[in-house]
Amino acid sequence: MRTVIKNGHVINAWQRAEADVVVSDGRIEAVIERNGGPGVSAGSSDTVIDATDCLVIPGGVDVHVHMQLNTGATESSDTFATGSVAAACGGTTTILDFSEQRAGGNVLASFEQRFAQAESQCVVDWGLHQVLGGVDAQALIDARSLIEREGVSSIKLFMAYPGRLYSDDGQILRALQMCSDTGMIAMVHAENGLAIDVLIEQAIAAGNTDPVFHSLTRPAALEAEAVHRAAVLSRVAGGAPLYIVHVSSSEALAEVRAARRNGTNIFAETCPQYLHLSLEKTLGKGWPEGAGYICSTPLRSGHETHHADLWNGLREDELAVVSTDHCPFCLREQKLMNGQTFERVPNGIGGVEHRLDLIYQGVVSGEISLERWVEVCATAPSRLFGLDTKGVIGVGFDADIVVYDPAARTTISAATHHMNLDYSAYEGFILQGGVRTVMSRGDVIVDRGVVNARAGRGKYLRRRVPALLR
Ligand code: URP
Ligand code: ZN
Ligand code: ZN
Repeated sequence: MRTVIKNGHVINAWQRAEADVVVSDGRIEAVIERNGGPGVSAGSSDTVIDATDCLVIPGGVDVHVHMQLNTGATESSDTFATGSVAAACGGTTTILDFSEQRAGGNVLASFEQRFAQAESQCVVDWGLHQVLGGVDAQALIDARSLIEREGVSSIKLFMAYPGRLYSDDGQILRALQMCSDTGMIAMVHAENGLAIDVLIEQAIAAGNTDPVFHSLTRPAALEAEAVHRAAVLSRVAGGAPLYIVHVSSSEALAEVRAARRNGTNIFAETCPQYLHLSLEKTLGKGWPEGAGYICSTPLRSGHETHHADLWNGLREDELAVVSTDHCPFCLREQKLMNGQTFERVPNGIGGVEHRLDLIYQGVVSGEISLERWVEVCATAPSRLFGLDTKGVIGVGFDADIVVYDPAARTTISAATHHMNLDYSAYEGFILQGGVRTVMSRGDVIVDRGVVNARAGRGKYLRRRVPALLR
Protein backbone atom coordinates (compact mmCIF):
# COMPACT_ATOMS: atom_id res chain seq x y z
CA MET A 1 0.00 0.00 0.00
CA ARG A 2 1.27 3.48 -0.89
CA THR A 3 0.82 6.68 1.06
CA VAL A 4 1.26 10.10 -0.53
CA ILE A 5 1.98 13.13 1.64
CA LYS A 6 0.80 16.00 -0.52
CA ASN A 7 1.15 19.79 -0.62
CA GLY A 8 3.70 20.14 2.20
CA HIS A 9 7.00 22.01 2.51
CA VAL A 10 9.68 19.32 2.77
CA ILE A 11 12.54 20.39 5.01
CA ASN A 12 15.87 18.57 4.97
CA ALA A 13 19.12 19.64 6.62
CA TRP A 14 20.50 21.03 3.38
CA GLN A 15 17.42 22.37 1.57
CA ARG A 16 13.69 22.99 1.56
CA ALA A 17 11.35 22.10 -1.31
CA GLU A 18 7.70 22.28 -2.26
CA ALA A 19 7.36 18.54 -2.75
CA ASP A 20 5.13 15.52 -2.34
CA VAL A 21 6.48 12.40 -0.63
CA VAL A 22 5.55 8.89 -1.74
CA VAL A 23 5.84 6.14 0.85
CA SER A 24 5.73 2.45 0.10
CA ASP A 25 6.63 -0.63 2.19
CA GLY A 26 7.86 1.52 5.06
CA ARG A 27 10.37 3.41 2.91
CA ILE A 28 10.38 6.69 1.04
CA GLU A 29 9.85 5.76 -2.62
CA ALA A 30 9.94 9.24 -4.15
CA VAL A 31 10.19 12.93 -3.29
CA ILE A 32 8.69 14.87 -6.16
CA GLU A 33 8.91 18.66 -6.42
CA ARG A 34 5.67 20.29 -7.49
CA ASN A 35 7.28 23.14 -9.41
CA GLY A 36 4.05 25.11 -9.27
CA GLY A 37 2.03 22.16 -10.60
CA PRO A 38 -0.42 19.87 -8.83
CA GLY A 39 2.24 17.36 -7.79
CA VAL A 40 1.83 13.60 -7.54
CA SER A 41 -1.55 12.27 -8.59
CA ALA A 42 -2.52 9.67 -6.05
CA GLY A 43 -4.02 6.37 -7.23
CA SER A 44 -7.41 5.19 -5.99
CA SER A 45 -5.79 2.71 -3.60
CA ASP A 46 -3.31 5.22 -2.18
CA THR A 47 -3.75 6.81 1.22
CA VAL A 48 -3.38 10.59 1.00
CA ILE A 49 -2.16 12.80 3.83
CA ASP A 50 -2.78 16.46 3.09
CA ALA A 51 0.08 18.57 4.46
CA THR A 52 -1.06 21.93 3.09
CA ASP A 53 0.62 24.77 5.06
CA CYS A 54 2.62 22.22 7.04
CA LEU A 55 6.28 21.29 7.24
CA VAL A 56 7.22 17.72 6.31
CA ILE A 57 10.33 16.76 8.24
CA PRO A 58 12.27 13.60 9.13
CA GLY A 59 11.17 11.95 12.37
CA GLY A 60 13.20 13.17 15.33
CA VAL A 61 16.16 11.15 16.57
CA ASP A 62 16.84 11.47 20.32
CA VAL A 63 20.17 9.82 21.06
CA HIS A 64 20.18 10.40 24.83
CA VAL A 65 17.28 9.04 26.87
CA HIS A 66 17.01 7.03 30.08
CA MET A 67 13.83 4.94 30.30
CA GLN A 68 13.31 2.96 33.51
CA LEU A 69 16.87 3.81 34.58
CA ASN A 70 17.68 1.91 37.74
CA THR A 71 19.27 4.16 40.38
CA GLY A 72 19.32 1.46 43.04
CA ALA A 73 16.50 2.94 45.10
CA THR A 74 14.09 3.60 42.23
CA GLU A 75 13.70 3.68 38.44
CA SER A 76 13.11 6.64 36.16
CA SER A 77 9.36 6.84 35.82
CA ASP A 78 8.92 6.27 32.07
CA THR A 79 9.06 2.69 30.94
CA PHE A 80 10.20 2.01 27.39
CA ALA A 81 6.47 1.80 26.58
CA THR A 82 5.30 5.08 28.11
CA GLY A 83 8.47 6.94 27.17
CA SER A 84 8.41 5.82 23.55
CA VAL A 85 4.73 6.82 23.25
CA ALA A 86 5.64 10.26 24.61
CA ALA A 87 8.54 10.46 22.17
CA ALA A 88 6.21 9.61 19.28
CA CYS A 89 3.68 12.24 20.36
CA GLY A 90 6.48 14.80 20.19
CA GLY A 91 7.61 13.72 16.73
CA THR A 92 10.58 11.59 17.80
CA THR A 93 10.63 8.28 15.95
CA THR A 94 14.03 6.95 17.07
CA ILE A 95 15.43 6.78 20.58
CA LEU A 96 18.81 5.60 21.80
CA ASP A 97 19.02 4.53 25.43
CA PHE A 98 21.85 2.83 27.35
CA SER A 99 22.80 -0.57 28.66
CA GLU A 100 24.89 -0.10 31.76
CA GLN A 101 27.88 -2.11 32.91
CA ARG A 102 29.07 -1.34 36.43
CA ALA A 103 32.50 -1.99 37.97
CA GLY A 104 33.08 -5.76 38.06
CA GLY A 105 29.99 -6.38 35.94
CA ASN A 106 29.75 -8.06 32.56
CA VAL A 107 29.21 -5.88 29.49
CA LEU A 108 27.50 -8.52 27.37
CA ALA A 109 25.13 -9.53 30.17
CA SER A 110 24.21 -5.88 30.76
CA PHE A 111 23.43 -5.48 27.07
CA GLU A 112 21.27 -8.59 26.92
CA GLN A 113 19.32 -7.64 30.02
CA ARG A 114 18.59 -4.12 28.75
CA PHE A 115 17.75 -5.39 25.26
CA ALA A 116 15.15 -7.74 26.71
CA GLN A 117 13.60 -4.90 28.73
CA ALA A 118 13.18 -2.62 25.72
CA GLU A 119 12.29 -5.07 22.99
CA SER A 120 8.72 -5.86 23.99
CA GLN A 121 7.82 -2.28 24.81
CA CYS A 122 9.09 0.32 22.34
CA VAL A 123 6.61 1.84 19.91
CA VAL A 124 9.33 3.68 17.97
CA ASP A 125 12.63 2.35 16.64
CA TRP A 126 15.36 2.16 19.21
CA GLY A 127 18.93 1.27 19.98
CA LEU A 128 21.40 1.14 22.86
CA HIS A 129 24.74 2.72 23.67
CA GLN A 130 26.97 0.72 25.99
CA VAL A 131 27.90 2.41 29.28
CA LEU A 132 31.25 1.31 30.67
CA GLY A 133 31.04 1.99 34.40
CA GLY A 134 34.01 -0.24 35.16
CA VAL A 135 36.62 -0.02 32.40
CA ASP A 136 38.90 -3.06 32.59
CA ALA A 137 40.51 -5.35 30.01
CA GLN A 138 37.49 -7.66 29.68
CA ALA A 139 35.02 -4.75 29.47
CA LEU A 140 36.98 -3.31 26.56
CA ILE A 141 37.15 -6.65 24.74
CA ASP A 142 33.41 -7.11 25.20
CA ALA A 143 32.54 -3.54 24.20
CA ARG A 144 34.57 -3.94 21.02
CA SER A 145 32.76 -7.18 20.24
CA LEU A 146 29.38 -5.43 20.44
CA ILE A 147 30.05 -3.73 17.10
CA GLU A 148 29.71 -6.98 15.13
CA ARG A 149 27.60 -8.87 17.62
CA GLU A 150 24.81 -6.34 18.22
CA GLY A 151 25.47 -3.37 15.95
CA VAL A 152 26.47 -1.06 18.83
CA SER A 153 28.72 1.76 17.62
CA SER A 154 28.98 3.90 20.77
CA ILE A 155 30.12 3.66 24.37
CA LYS A 156 29.53 6.02 27.27
CA LEU A 157 31.98 7.06 29.96
CA PHE A 158 31.51 9.15 33.11
CA MET A 159 34.02 11.66 34.48
CA ALA A 160 31.41 12.34 37.20
CA TYR A 161 29.81 10.18 39.91
CA PRO A 162 32.85 8.71 41.78
CA GLY A 163 32.08 5.33 43.32
CA ARG A 164 29.27 4.65 40.85
CA LEU A 165 29.94 5.08 37.16
CA TYR A 166 33.14 7.16 37.33
CA SER A 167 36.19 6.36 35.21
CA ASP A 168 39.58 7.81 36.07
CA ASP A 169 41.78 9.36 33.38
CA GLY A 170 43.71 6.12 32.83
CA GLN A 171 40.49 4.19 32.26
CA ILE A 172 39.21 6.89 29.94
CA LEU A 173 42.44 6.85 27.95
CA ARG A 174 42.27 3.07 27.52
CA ALA A 175 38.63 3.26 26.41
CA LEU A 176 39.43 6.08 23.97
CA GLN A 177 42.31 4.07 22.55
CA MET A 178 39.80 1.31 21.82
CA CYS A 179 37.55 3.90 20.12
CA SER A 180 40.46 5.23 18.09
CA ASP A 181 41.15 1.70 16.93
CA THR A 182 37.57 0.69 16.11
CA GLY A 183 35.89 3.99 15.24
CA MET A 184 33.35 3.64 18.03
CA ILE A 185 32.25 7.04 19.32
CA ALA A 186 32.72 7.73 23.05
CA MET A 187 29.96 9.73 24.71
CA VAL A 188 31.39 11.44 27.76
CA HIS A 189 29.62 12.94 30.77
CA ALA A 190 32.18 15.68 31.34
CA GLU A 191 32.26 16.99 34.91
CA ASN A 192 35.14 16.74 37.38
CA GLY A 193 33.43 14.34 39.77
CA LEU A 194 36.17 14.23 42.41
CA ALA A 195 36.23 18.01 42.84
CA ILE A 196 32.43 18.19 42.80
CA ASP A 197 32.24 15.65 45.62
CA VAL A 198 34.45 17.89 47.78
CA LEU A 199 32.17 20.87 47.14
CA ILE A 200 29.09 18.77 47.96
CA GLU A 201 30.63 17.57 51.21
CA GLN A 202 31.50 21.14 52.21
CA ALA A 203 28.04 22.45 51.31
CA ILE A 204 26.31 19.77 53.39
CA ALA A 205 28.67 20.40 56.33
CA ALA A 206 27.74 24.10 56.17
CA GLY A 207 24.02 23.25 56.20
CA ASN A 208 23.53 24.30 52.58
CA THR A 209 21.14 21.58 51.48
CA ASP A 210 18.56 23.40 49.32
CA PRO A 211 18.10 22.49 45.63
CA VAL A 212 20.05 25.52 44.44
CA PHE A 213 23.21 24.04 45.98
CA HIS A 214 23.01 21.22 43.48
CA SER A 215 24.00 23.73 40.81
CA LEU A 216 26.38 25.71 43.00
CA THR A 217 28.42 22.60 43.85
CA ARG A 218 28.76 21.69 40.15
CA PRO A 219 30.28 24.93 38.78
CA ALA A 220 30.67 25.46 35.06
CA ALA A 221 34.45 25.62 35.49
CA LEU A 222 34.42 21.94 36.49
CA GLU A 223 32.38 21.07 33.40
CA ALA A 224 34.75 23.03 31.17
CA GLU A 225 37.83 21.48 32.78
CA ALA A 226 36.48 17.99 32.12
CA VAL A 227 35.63 18.79 28.49
CA HIS A 228 39.20 20.04 28.05
CA ARG A 229 40.66 16.89 29.65
CA ALA A 230 38.47 14.59 27.56
CA ALA A 231 39.59 16.39 24.40
CA VAL A 232 43.27 16.05 25.36
CA LEU A 233 42.79 12.33 26.08
CA SER A 234 41.04 11.84 22.72
CA ARG A 235 44.02 13.39 20.93
CA VAL A 236 46.55 11.39 22.97
CA ALA A 237 44.53 8.27 22.11
CA GLY A 238 45.10 8.98 18.43
CA GLY A 239 41.93 10.82 17.47
CA ALA A 240 39.16 8.89 19.19
CA PRO A 241 35.69 10.08 18.13
CA LEU A 242 34.44 12.00 21.16
CA TYR A 243 30.90 13.21 21.88
CA ILE A 244 30.34 15.45 24.90
CA VAL A 245 26.84 14.96 26.31
CA HIS A 246 24.58 17.63 27.81
CA VAL A 247 26.79 20.73 27.38
CA SER A 248 25.19 23.24 29.73
CA SER A 249 27.46 26.28 29.95
CA SER A 250 29.31 28.93 27.98
CA GLU A 251 32.57 27.77 29.55
CA ALA A 252 32.15 24.14 28.43
CA LEU A 253 31.08 25.28 24.97
CA ALA A 254 34.24 27.39 24.71
CA GLU A 255 36.32 24.26 25.37
CA VAL A 256 34.39 22.34 22.69
CA ARG A 257 35.00 25.19 20.25
CA ALA A 258 38.73 25.36 21.08
CA ALA A 259 39.08 21.59 20.70
CA ARG A 260 37.33 21.62 17.33
CA ARG A 261 39.67 24.36 16.17
CA ASN A 262 42.77 22.42 17.18
CA GLY A 263 41.68 19.35 15.26
CA THR A 264 40.20 17.20 18.01
CA ASN A 265 37.73 14.64 16.70
CA ILE A 266 35.05 16.09 18.98
CA PHE A 267 31.29 16.63 18.72
CA ALA A 268 28.83 17.82 21.33
CA GLU A 269 25.17 18.02 22.22
CA THR A 270 23.08 20.31 24.34
CA CYS A 271 19.52 19.77 25.62
CA PRO A 272 16.36 21.92 25.70
CA GLN A 273 16.65 22.53 29.44
CA TYR A 274 19.95 24.39 28.96
CA LEU A 275 18.43 26.57 26.25
CA HIS A 276 15.15 27.41 27.99
CA LEU A 277 15.27 27.08 31.78
CA SER A 278 16.76 29.48 34.29
CA LEU A 279 18.23 28.58 37.65
CA GLU A 280 16.36 31.35 39.42
CA LYS A 281 12.93 30.15 38.27
CA THR A 282 13.65 26.46 38.91
CA LEU A 283 16.03 25.26 41.60
CA GLY A 284 15.70 28.67 43.21
CA LYS A 285 12.09 27.83 44.14
CA GLY A 286 13.33 25.67 47.01
CA TRP A 287 11.44 22.58 48.17
CA PRO A 288 9.58 20.76 46.79
CA GLU A 289 9.43 22.30 43.27
CA GLY A 290 13.17 22.91 43.04
CA ALA A 291 13.81 19.17 43.27
CA GLY A 292 12.12 18.74 39.90
CA TYR A 293 15.00 20.58 38.25
CA ILE A 294 17.90 18.69 39.80
CA CYS A 295 19.82 17.21 36.89
CA SER A 296 23.46 16.85 35.92
CA THR A 297 24.99 18.77 34.30
CA PRO A 298 22.99 21.37 36.24
CA LEU A 299 20.96 24.38 35.19
CA ARG A 300 23.15 27.48 35.36
CA SER A 301 22.91 30.89 36.99
CA GLY A 302 23.32 33.87 34.65
CA HIS A 303 21.22 31.85 32.26
CA GLU A 304 20.78 34.62 29.64
CA THR A 305 24.45 34.39 28.67
CA HIS A 306 24.51 30.60 28.64
CA HIS A 307 21.30 30.44 26.60
CA ALA A 308 22.57 32.93 24.03
CA ASP A 309 25.93 31.19 23.73
CA LEU A 310 24.37 27.74 23.38
CA TRP A 311 21.97 28.90 20.66
CA ASN A 312 24.96 30.45 18.94
CA GLY A 313 26.83 27.14 19.30
CA LEU A 314 23.95 25.35 17.59
CA ARG A 315 23.85 27.90 14.80
CA GLU A 316 27.61 27.64 14.21
CA ASP A 317 27.70 23.81 14.40
CA GLU A 318 29.94 23.81 17.45
CA LEU A 319 27.04 21.90 18.99
CA ALA A 320 25.98 19.23 16.52
CA VAL A 321 22.94 17.75 18.25
CA VAL A 322 20.07 18.49 20.60
CA SER A 323 18.99 15.48 22.65
CA THR A 324 16.89 15.48 25.81
CA ASP A 325 18.77 13.41 28.42
CA HIS A 326 15.19 12.40 29.28
CA CYS A 327 15.40 10.99 32.81
CA PRO A 328 12.09 11.59 34.62
CA PHE A 329 11.36 11.04 38.30
CA CYS A 330 7.99 11.90 39.83
CA LEU A 331 8.22 14.83 42.20
CA ARG A 332 6.62 13.54 45.37
CA GLU A 333 7.21 9.78 45.28
CA GLN A 334 10.68 9.82 43.75
CA LYS A 335 12.51 13.15 43.80
CA LEU A 336 11.75 13.57 47.51
CA MET A 337 11.91 9.93 48.54
CA ASN A 338 15.28 10.31 50.32
CA GLY A 339 14.46 13.56 52.08
CA GLN A 340 15.13 17.23 51.48
CA THR A 341 18.87 17.35 50.89
CA PHE A 342 19.94 18.16 47.32
CA GLU A 343 22.51 15.40 46.92
CA ARG A 344 19.96 12.70 47.78
CA VAL A 345 17.56 13.66 44.99
CA PRO A 346 17.60 11.39 41.91
CA ASN A 347 19.06 13.38 39.01
CA GLY A 348 17.15 14.04 35.83
CA ILE A 349 14.47 15.95 33.95
CA GLY A 350 11.78 14.49 31.68
CA GLY A 351 11.48 16.05 28.25
CA VAL A 352 11.44 13.46 25.48
CA GLU A 353 8.03 14.69 24.33
CA HIS A 354 8.94 18.33 23.82
CA ARG A 355 12.34 18.45 22.11
CA LEU A 356 11.16 19.23 18.58
CA ASP A 357 8.73 21.87 19.83
CA LEU A 358 11.20 23.52 22.20
CA ILE A 359 13.90 23.74 19.54
CA TYR A 360 11.35 24.97 17.00
CA GLN A 361 10.93 28.01 19.27
CA GLY A 362 14.48 28.88 18.21
CA VAL A 363 13.28 28.93 14.61
CA VAL A 364 10.38 31.19 15.60
CA SER A 365 12.71 33.60 17.39
CA GLY A 366 15.31 33.55 14.59
CA GLU A 367 18.08 31.72 16.47
CA ILE A 368 18.34 28.90 13.91
CA SER A 369 16.93 28.13 10.46
CA LEU A 370 14.34 25.48 9.69
CA GLU A 371 17.05 23.40 8.05
CA ARG A 372 19.28 23.62 11.12
CA TRP A 373 16.33 22.59 13.32
CA VAL A 374 15.98 19.42 11.26
CA GLU A 375 19.72 18.87 11.26
CA VAL A 376 20.26 19.06 15.04
CA CYS A 377 17.09 17.10 15.88
CA ALA A 378 17.32 14.33 13.27
CA THR A 379 20.01 14.36 10.59
CA ALA A 380 23.19 14.96 12.60
CA PRO A 381 22.36 12.50 15.40
CA SER A 382 21.60 9.84 12.77
CA ARG A 383 24.93 10.42 11.07
CA LEU A 384 27.02 10.53 14.25
CA PHE A 385 25.52 7.36 15.66
CA GLY A 386 25.49 5.26 12.50
CA LEU A 387 21.75 5.27 11.79
CA ASP A 388 21.99 5.00 8.03
CA THR A 389 18.26 4.88 7.28
CA LYS A 390 17.10 7.73 9.52
CA GLY A 391 17.08 11.53 9.60
CA VAL A 392 16.46 12.39 5.95
CA ILE A 393 13.41 12.82 3.72
CA GLY A 394 15.01 11.07 0.75
CA VAL A 395 14.52 8.09 -1.51
CA GLY A 396 15.37 4.81 0.23
CA PHE A 397 15.29 6.22 3.76
CA ASP A 398 12.85 4.85 6.34
CA ALA A 399 9.49 6.59 6.12
CA ASP A 400 9.84 8.20 9.55
CA ILE A 401 8.07 11.45 8.79
CA VAL A 402 6.50 14.23 10.84
CA VAL A 403 3.87 16.60 9.50
CA TYR A 404 4.46 19.72 11.59
CA ASP A 405 1.95 22.56 11.73
CA PRO A 406 3.77 25.89 12.22
CA ALA A 407 0.49 27.66 12.96
CA ALA A 408 -0.44 25.41 15.90
CA ARG A 409 -0.21 26.76 19.43
CA THR A 410 0.03 24.54 22.46
CA THR A 411 0.67 24.94 26.16
CA ILE A 412 2.86 22.38 27.90
CA SER A 413 1.32 20.85 30.99
CA ALA A 414 1.66 17.74 33.11
CA ALA A 415 -2.11 17.48 32.81
CA THR A 416 -1.87 16.76 29.09
CA HIS A 417 1.59 15.35 28.38
CA HIS A 418 2.09 11.64 27.72
CA MET A 419 5.19 11.12 29.85
CA ASN A 420 4.63 9.14 33.03
CA LEU A 421 5.56 12.12 35.15
CA ASP A 422 3.53 14.08 37.70
CA TYR A 423 5.01 17.48 36.85
CA SER A 424 6.50 19.22 33.84
CA ALA A 425 9.73 21.18 33.91
CA TYR A 426 8.11 23.34 31.21
CA GLU A 427 4.67 23.79 32.82
CA GLY A 428 2.81 26.68 31.21
CA PHE A 429 5.25 27.18 28.31
CA ILE A 430 3.27 28.42 25.30
CA LEU A 431 4.62 26.93 22.10
CA GLN A 432 4.28 28.14 18.56
CA GLY A 433 3.99 25.16 16.19
CA GLY A 434 3.06 21.58 16.89
CA VAL A 435 3.25 17.99 15.71
CA ARG A 436 0.22 16.92 13.68
CA THR A 437 0.98 13.50 12.16
CA VAL A 438 3.79 11.07 12.91
CA MET A 439 4.77 8.19 10.67
CA SER A 440 7.18 5.45 11.68
CA ARG A 441 8.37 3.19 8.83
CA GLY A 442 5.21 4.11 6.93
CA ASP A 443 2.75 3.51 9.81
CA VAL A 444 0.83 6.53 11.08
CA ILE A 445 1.43 6.12 14.81
CA VAL A 446 0.16 9.53 15.95
CA ASP A 447 -2.42 11.74 14.29
CA ARG A 448 -3.79 14.89 15.88
CA GLY A 449 -2.92 13.61 19.34
CA VAL A 450 -4.36 10.12 18.85
CA VAL A 451 -1.80 7.35 19.31
CA ASN A 452 -2.11 4.15 17.30
CA ALA A 453 0.94 2.07 18.05
CA ARG A 454 1.39 -1.37 19.52
CA ALA A 455 3.99 -1.84 22.27
CA GLY A 456 6.89 -3.73 20.74
CA ARG A 457 6.33 -2.50 17.17
CA GLY A 458 9.54 -0.46 17.40
CA LYS A 459 12.49 -2.15 15.72
CA TYR A 460 15.93 -2.59 17.26
CA LEU A 461 18.45 -0.67 15.17
CA ARG A 462 21.82 -2.19 14.49
CA ARG A 463 24.17 0.70 13.88
CA ARG A 464 27.25 1.16 11.76
CA VAL A 465 30.53 2.61 13.02
CA PRO A 466 30.56 5.92 11.16
CA ALA A 467 33.67 7.54 9.66
CA LEU A 468 33.89 10.43 12.07
CA LEU A 469 36.79 12.66 11.33
CA ARG A 470 35.38 16.13 10.91
O1 URP B 1 20.69 14.23 35.63
C1 URP B 1 20.84 13.41 34.74
N1 URP B 1 21.23 13.81 33.57
N2 URP B 1 20.60 12.11 34.95
C2 URP B 1 20.80 11.06 34.02
C3 URP B 1 22.16 10.47 34.02
C4 URP B 1 23.17 11.34 33.33
O2 URP B 1 24.07 11.85 33.97
O3 URP B 1 23.08 11.54 32.11
ZN1 ZN C 1 25.14 12.58 32.20
ZN1 ZN D 1 22.02 11.09 30.56
